[in-house]
Amino acid sequence: MTSFTISPLTDRTGAEVVGLDFTEPIDPQTRTTLNRAFAEHHVLVMRDQHFTPEQFKQAAQVFGELQQHDKKEHHVPGHPDVYYVSNDEIVNGRRIIPGETFHTDHSNHPRPPKATMLFAVELPSAGGDTQYVNVHDAYDDLPVETKQRIDGLKVVHVYLSKYSPRPLGAISEESRRDVPAPGIHPLVRTHPENGRKALFLNPVRMESIVGMEDEEALALIDELMRHATQKKYEYRHKWRYGDWVIWDNRSVMHQANPDYDMSERRYLYRLMLRGEVPV
Ligand code: OGA
Ligand code: MN
Repeated sequence: MTSFTISPLTDRTGAEVVGLDFTEPIDPQTRTTLNRAFAEHHVLVMRDQHFTPEQFKQAAQVFGELQQHDKKEHHVPGHPDVYYVSNDEIVNGRRIIPGETFHTDHSNHPRPPKATMLFAVELPSAGGDTQYVNVHDAYDDLPVETKQRIDGLKVVHVYLSKYSPRPLGAISEESRRDVPAPGIHPLVRTHPENGRKALFLNPVRMESIVGMEDEEALALIDELMRHATQKKYEYRHKWRYGDWVIWDNRSVMHQANPDYDMSERRYLYRLMLRGEVPV
């Protein structure tokens, strides 16, 4: 028997997994335990891992099937299906920090990825935390009138909304052509494993709410974003070497922090897992 621990990192969001080496085979019982913990805690932090890109890919599949990134060219050299985030891309004189402002990954897809994960390869000496907010709890706490107003609303998620608070990094023409048609998703979705409702929000990609004037839609989204991003819903991850972090895009929104010395490099391997049509 493998012996390992799963300990909560906050009251409601995030748990730490200590004592497993994911370069070794994971037995079926451990796999089930990990997947249950993931559905319950929404963010899992596996400590003390050492991965090559190929080992990271193998480990990822403990939680599901891999999904390609829209920017196919944005991969680790020599590893076409292992992606990365870094702080070294400049577009029009402006540094791109991927994930800066709260969002949900690839929500423009008809079947958005259920999960995303990062493995720390290079970290700044201070800062560069990732913040997660629990959108199940945020939904639960809404006033009854707001729940009645938003249950049943559908939102159009495009690759890059004209209302996005930030630009995205460069994408090749070929990759851009392969981006799927916009996803039209419920504003309130139900998690297929834990059964809980959640707000499904992403200001970077949400362009309209079906049947609503844009002005009203933007005001509603703004109100929901302010509510959902309160500190009480947050787990803030301070990266350490060895961290492998996986988050459930059906349960949390997340954001990167550009609060560190940009002459230092921040570089993490990144993978996503296939999801389902949100309902
Ligand atoms: C992402 C993302 C946040 C970070 O990889 O999808 O938003 O802190 N990353 O790098
Ligand atoms: Mn992201």
